[in-house]
Amino acid sequence: MTAPPGAAVRTAGLQKTYPASGPRPAVPAVQGIDLDVPRGEFFGLLGPNGAGKSTTIGMLTTLVVPTGGTAHVCGLDVVRDAVEIKRRIGVVSQNNTLDSDLTVAENLEFRGRFFGLGAREARKRADELLELFGLGDTRGGNPFEISGGQAKRVMICRALVHGPEVLFLDEPTAGLDPQTRTNLWEVLRELQASGQTILLTTHYMEEAEALCDRVAVVDHGKILASGTVDQLKGTAGADTVITVAYDAPPPDRIHALADRTGISKVEINGGQVRVFATEPDGLLGELVALGAAEGVGVTDASQLRPSLETVFLTLTGRDYRE
Ligand SMILES: Nc1ncnc2c1ncn2[C@@H]1O[C@H](COP(=O)(O)OP(=O)(O)OP(=O)(O)O)[C@@H](O)[C@H]1O
Ligand SMILES: [Mg+2]
Repeated sequence: MTAPPGAAVRTAGLQKTYPASGPRPAVPAVQGIDLDVPRGEFFGLLGPNGAGKSTTIGMLTTLVVPTGGTAHVCGLDVVRDAVEIKRRIGVVSQNNTLDSDLTVAENLEFRGRFFGLGAREARKRADELLELFGLGDTRGGNPFEISGGQAKRVMICRALVHGPEVLFLDEPTAGLDPQTRTNLWEVLRELQASGQTILLTTHYMEEAEALCDRVAVVDHGKILASGTVDQLKGTAGADTVITVAYDAPPPDRIHALADRTGISKVEINGGQVRVFATEPDGLLGELVALGAAEGVGVTDASQLRPSLETVFLTLTGRDYRE
């Protein structure tokens, strides 16, 4: 069975269980993931450490063999048609995998040759890409003597040398400073604007929000929710989340808040109160005042506006920690 021509990536019930090894039990890293990414889309897999993002991207890029379900990339089966898929995709892994024996430009040229470009064409393509990505000055340099952000851009160029239909990026901005990260976002936006289909993984919520047309939130190998960022915020976590830590048992009148219009949920956990609200105006002050009226002080307070962070909080009951 092949995916329809329009789909860049399609999976059904995709699974990967790493086998047990010595004392370590088997790891069900991906437990039945369904994805449908049309061509031209910028799609994000968002999740915390160990969620199964790299394993999923590993299966889509034919490096990891699934143990269940199916996955198609450009209409081709990741197991049966692995060789052809490799020709049609570009992959940027998390670590610097550039060849240190080659210059920056040679890294691109060799990749181009590998994919069947002639020497002159490969050089031309390498030069064009390096210029396009603002890397012209680095072309003769060693790929391990440039900045992390530059190295990442070189890796993206290398992945684009043969004009792949789908570009896969595993945590492209992990470990980069904020300025470099936003610069790279700009590069990726331009790529998509030029028609490139992109699938990235990230554990940065703001990255998924800034870039992706659609996002799947993954945790423990499963998709918790997927859709546009606005849809996600609308279905789960449309609320502002206000968290207040009291220095004593929270005031009794807190319980009554749960019945008020504009408040969806009140969670009380020891001295910590968490209020999920669609109408949060004035609520934080009220929570402080309610405590003060009963002689209970506040040691910590925060207010999170609706974001993918509140979505994660609503879906899992856990804080999303980077
Ligand atoms: N080769 C492997 N053998 C055994 N277990 C593995 C292997 N690779 C990953 N795992 C385990 O599978 C689970 C998912 O790992 P994976 O690397 O896919 O997650 P991730 O979402 O990419 O995490 P991170 O944000 O840390 O990169 C984890 O529990 C991990 O320890
Ligand atoms: Mg990973």
